Amino acid sequence: MDYLEIVGGKKLSGSVTISGAKNAALPIIAATILSDKALTLTNLPNVVDIRTLLKLLSMLGASVDHNETTAHINNGFINSTKAVYEIVSQMRASILVLGPLLARFGECEVSLPGGCAIGQRPIDLHLKALESMGAHIEIKGGYVRAEAKEGLKGAKIIFDKITVGGTENIVMAAALAHGTTTIVNAAKEPEVVQLCEMIRDAGVKIEGIGTNELSIEGTAGKTLAFKPVEIIPDRIEAGTYLCAGAITYSSITLHKVNCGHIRATIDKLESMGCSFDLKEDSITIHPASKLKPVNLITIEYPGFPTDMQAQLMAVAVIAEGESLIEERLFENRFMHVSELNRLGADVWLKGSTAAVKGVQKLYGADVMATDLRASSALVLAALVAEGTTNVRRIYHLDRGYDDLEGKLSKLGADIKRKREA
Ligand code: UD1
Repeated sequence: MDYLEIVGGKKLSGSVTISGAKNAALPIIAATILSDKALTLTNLPNVVDIRTLLKLLSMLGASVDHNETTAHINNGFINSTKAVYEIVSQMRASILVLGPLLARFGECEVSLPGGCAIGQRPIDLHLKALESMGAHIEIKGGYVRAEAKEGLKGAKIIFDKITVGGTENIVMAAALAHGTTTIVNAAKEPEVVQLCEMIRDAGVKIEGIGTNELSIEGTAGKTLAFKPVEIIPDRIEAGTYLCAGAITYSSITLHKVNCGHIRATIDKLESMGCSFDLKEDSITIHPASKLKPVNLITIEYPGFPTDMQAQLMAVAVIAEGESLIEERLFENRFMHVSELNRLGADVWLKGSTAAVKGVQKLYGADVMATDLRASSALVLAALVAEGTTNVRRIYHLDRGYDDLEGKLSKLGADIKRKREA
C-alpha cells in the first residue's frame, strides 16, 4: 500500500493548475447514459473515482475510450442495466446511474451503496422522488430494483433536505420523463448547475438553473444528443491549495479556477488574515502576518462546503486563538481530529462542533487517512509539522486529488509517495 512521506517546514512558491471537478464529472458521466450517441468529455480529473465510474459504464456495455483527462463515450452499446456491488461499494456516487438507467431503459438494478466513513449517507430521498415519478422500487439482495415500464412521469418533488446527488439523479430521470418535473428545495452547487446546463444544451427545457427550484420538461423517452462538455474547475481542490498557501505562510497562484465558486473559502481565509489577488481564472493567495482563528458552519452552497471543513481545520490548528467549527451535513465527519491531535493539534469535539485551540507547533508522526478530505487535511498539517509525517491509507486521496504529491512538490513541498515494505 502506498503512503506519503512529508518533511514539514518548507515554504511554497510558484503556481499550480487546478484540475476538473470530480464531483461535476461524476454526474456528467452518469448523464451520458441518457444518450445513445458518441460524445466527448474533456478536463476530467485524473483520479480513481472517475476511472471507477467509467469502468461501470464499460461493464454496462458502453464503449469508453479514456486517456487521463478526455473520455470518448458511446452509450449506444449498453446491453445491461445492472450496476454491481463490486463497483458501487468502491464508490458511493455510482448511485448516480440509477436515475438515467431507469429513465432510458425503464428498469435497472443498482447495488445499495451502504454507509461510509463520514456517516450513514442514506439514499431514501432519491428513491422517494423516483417513486413519485411512477417508479416501482424494491430493495432485494442488497440491490435497488427499479421499474417504470411505461416510462417515468413528471411530478412535483419536494426534497425534505437539500441533497446534491438526489437533485442530480432526479434531474437526469426527469430529462427523459413524460411531462414536467418540478424540484423544490433543489441543490444549487456549481456541479448541479453544470449538469443542468449539459442537459439543457442537449435540447431539454430546464428552468431555474442555479436556484432552489428546478423545472424540467422531459422528452417522453427520446434519448439526448450531447454537445462536448468541458468539466468545470474543482472548487475543493482549489480550496485545498489555498489552505496549503495559508498554512505554510506562502504566496502561491492557482490557475484555471472559478473564483466565484470558492468565495466561501476565500472569505474564511480572509478573516484569518490572508489576502488575495483575483483574476478571471486565476487567484494568488498572500499569507497572513499571523493566522487568526475562525468560526465556521458547514452548509449547502453558496455556504461553506463540508468538503473543505477538514482542510480549514488544519489551518485553524496553527492559528493564534480558538476556532469553532460546526459540521451540519454529515454526522461523522471529524475523523481527522484524532489524527491531527497526533501531530500535536489541540482539538476538542462536542457533538457536531469542534473547538480548535491554536498551537505554536506541530510535530511529524505516523497518521492514517480516513476519508478523502480528511486525508488532505493531514497532508496540509504535515507541510508545517516539524520532522517527518507519514500519511498512510492514501488510496482515499487518490480517489479525488489529481497528482497531489506532484503538484505540491512543484510548489516546493518535500513530499514523496512510498510503498509499504
Ligand atoms: C455530495 C458530494 C460530497 C459532498 C456532499 C455535500 C458528490 C459525488 N459528492 O455528496 O462530496 O460532501 O454532496 O455537499 O458530489 N441525505 C439523506 N437522504 C438522501 C440523500 C442525502 O438523508 O437520500 C442526507 C445526507 O446524509 C447528508 C445530506 O443529505 O446529510 C446531504 O447529502 P448529499 O447532498 O446527498 O450528499 P452527496 O450527494 O452524497
